[in-house]
Amino acid sequence: MAEQKEKVLSVENLVINFKTDNGILQAVRDVSFDLYQGETLCIVGESGSGKSVTSKAIMGILSNNAVIANGTIIYRGENLLEVSEDEFYKIRGHRIGMIFQDPLSSLNPIVKIGKQITEAMLINSDKLKTMYNDLISDDLIRYKNTLAKMNIAITTERKKLDLFRSEIKVKEGRSAADKLADRKLLKEKKAAFKQFEKEIRAKYMDQAREYKKVLEETEKRAKKEVAAYKDKVLAEHKTQEAAIRAKYAGDKAKLKEELARAQEDLDNKLRITKAEAKRRALKIMHEVGIPEPEKRYNQYPFEFSGGMRQRIVIAIALTASPEILICDEPTTALDVTIQAQILELINRIKAERNLSCIFITHDLGVVANMADRVAVMYAGKIVEYGKLDEIFYDPRHPYTWALLSSIPDVDSKQELDAIPGTPPNMIYPPKGDAFAVRNRYAMNIDFREQPPFFKVSDTHYAATWLLHPDAPKVEMPKIVSERIRISLEGQYDEQ
Ligand SMILES: Nc1ncnc2c1ncn2[C@@H]1O[C@H](COP(=O)(O)OP(=O)(O)O)[C@@H](O)[C@H]1O
Ligand SMILES: [Mg+2]
Repeated sequence: MAEQKEKVLSVENLVINFKTDNGILQAVRDVSFDLYQGETLCIVGESGSGKSVTSKAIMGILSNNAVIANGTIIYRGENLLEVSEDEFYKIRGHRIGMIFQDPLSSLNPIVKIGKQITEAMLINSDKLKTMYNDLISDDLIRYKNTLAKMNIAITTERKKLDLFRSEIKVKEGRSAADKLADRKLLKEKKAAFKQFEKEIRAKYMDQAREYKKVLEETEKRAKKEVAAYKDKVLAEHKTQEAAIRAKYAGDKAKLKEELARAQEDLDNKLRITKAEAKRRALKIMHEVGIPEPEKRYNQYPFEFSGGMRQRIVIAIALTASPEILICDEPTTALDVTIQAQILELINRIKAERNLSCIFITHDLGVVANMADRVAVMYAGKIVEYGKLDEIFYDPRHPYTWALLSSIPDVDSKQELDAIPGTPPNMIYPPKGDAFAVRNRYAMNIDFREQPPFFKVSDTHYAATWLLHPDAPKVEMPKIVSERIRISLEGQYDEQ
């Protein structure tokens, strides 16, 4: 039976458009996927297919001209698209970390590496406050999210009303009767909105009140717990101080020194000091394979190679102990041997820290090294997804075939075979299967209707009309089937 794995992140029906000078660009068109605890999900596709936009939506860092037209991103039971800015700030970079393609763009060129790594730790340096926030965070997010949902629902309705009001304002040359009719309609709409607002508030406020009560209880308990911790720490310090005074009564210099040490101990228990942040930073620098961290700590980004810079970026992402790591083409800018080292590093850290990982790449060779599962993206949609073996040894979508044919073959020294044609202009996406014009297996229906997902196995789905029971049987390209045959034979040889 399939093992029950915990879902850590769920993207559902995500639709993201961009307002551009040339019109509305449809970057992400109804994307859904789950991320399970401890796995690496690779999202693969040509440039422009919507991979980065999807990951930016998860991180909440889309540019201003982006419009999230539909969808939810559920993390720990909460919709990240609805949580308030404050809450999102806590989650972003805290529970979900991200590494980008170009390490230079995420590092500040004029700030020493050590400072950049410790910065995030020192922002939350008050340990008592952090402890309190951690204790109440689940209940707080749940409560705030309920209010946010309510406000979003009301604002959306109000915007519709405002739009109508401005529409009738700009209408010109109307008869008095028309104006009267419009005014009457506006009045009705206003009343309907008032009614809607009342109902929505009633619906959400009951829930919110209940959550608030729970939150207040949790806050009380958390305050007590934090106060008890503080009392304990202070009491211990007092005892220690008394002991030191007794012990070194005759030696003034020694007494002063010991008292200072005790004070530092106390500081460390109450807040993250610079010294402790540095210790932690050096430890993480060591973890990500930076030689001589002590020396490197005081250097600037330009003093590091590309690979080392990417290690620093990974170190920064790790300081917050994230649960999910999103890697967006983290090795694309690096040369091949360095690329392999960084991939190995990410795999090791992922295993050691039990992270769940979304790994974005246009390179199926990288996919083979990283993925547990694969989602193939084309023109803003996922067109096929499955376990790594299912995608590599039993691919079903002609676009996946095309991608697989374009992997350069190390042994035969074949050139990389670019997929013929170009991706569509996403301001005018095609009506049917977006890949149809580049697909030599395309049927009439491909140009008319978007294919649904057809099931290949419990874990493997592909959106192509070729899987419809009435479709003609077609074979995948020889180059792909041959490669699969050879690599499968290779596997059996090894056994
Ligand atoms: N800020 C933006 N404004 C307008 N269009 C954008 C913006 N960001 C991305 N796009 C467009 O969205 C589509 C998807 O982009 P992206 O997710 O970056 O692709 P990739 O799969 O290469 O990461 C592309 O057509 C791209 O041009
Ligand atoms: Mg990208």
